[in-house]
Amino acid sequence: MRHVLGFDQAQLIIRTNETISVARREEFFDLVQRRAAGEPTQYITGHQEFFALDFTVTRDVLIPRPETEFLVQRVIEHARAVRENAPIIADVGTGSGCIAVAIAVNLPDARVIATDVSAPALLVARANAERHGVSKRIQFIEGDLVEPLIGAEKESLDIIAANPPYVPSTSPNLLPREVREHEPPVALYGGADGLDHIRRLLESAPQALKSGGYMVIEIGYGQIEETTRLLDPAAWELIEVTNDLQAIPRILTLRRK
Ligand SMILES: C[S@@+](CC[C@H](N)C(=O)[O-])C[C@H]1O[C@@H](n2cnc3c(N)ncnc32)[C@H](O)[C@@H]1O
Repeated sequence: MRHVLGFDQAQLIIRTNETISVARREEFFDLVQRRAAGEPTQYITGHQEFFALDFTVTRDVLIPRPETEFLVQRVIEHARAVRENAPIIADVGTGSGCIAVAIAVNLPDARVIATDVSAPALLVARANAERHGVSKRIQFIEGDLVEPLIGAEKESLDIIAANPPYVPSTSPNLLPREVREHEPPVALYGGADGLDHIRRLLESAPQALKSGGYMVIEIGYGQIEETTRLLDPAAWELIEVTNDLQAIPRILTLRRK
């Protein structure tokens, strides 16, 4: 109702006695029907809050999740340790741009490179960067995982942040209907065991990241053991595992040796 009327929360409470037009009423019930049919509220209203910022979301991007805020926190904490001034940070698989934009807003001297295979997602990410006044410090590149980062930024990239697709493609039925039927498959599925992108990131990221740099990566439920087993001890040191609010190990902070 707030979305249809353009009201904030206070207005909705104060103006409850007003009559709304038939057109608005119809619009409201159309949206309620879409929601009842399983469409996520965020795709209906086009908004999701993340790290205290409002993000535009469309069906081309994953809806930002609260657990990913822990990833942004870890990146912000470590950025200064890796480089005192003007850190260079990549966000691989940027989607709505929520990670890249939250980092750029909270680290005003950072330069961010945001990549995604999805061109439509990059358009949404760019629009979010513009809305939050950080588009000049974020470069958007279409490409596969860290491939666009190898070369130009080698030996200067301080941190890679990544929330890759990690749902096992063999078990889509474990996902709520809202997610399974509405969010983009390219943002969800990571091969049979869900770990395809994580495996490839662990292998290829050392080619893009400076020595002593960090990779902060989100993983799925039940993936901590297999992911830590995949870590090549010659390439990575596991610094920290951050649990989400359900006590699920969710964010891995790794240091490139
Ligand atoms: C789980 S979503 C994360 C989106 C956003 N970073 C967030 O945290 O809400 C994964 C993103 O990775 C992108 N992606 C999938 N495969 C990719 C690949 N091979 N290379 C780069 N990006 C990829 C998807 O398009 C999607 O935007």
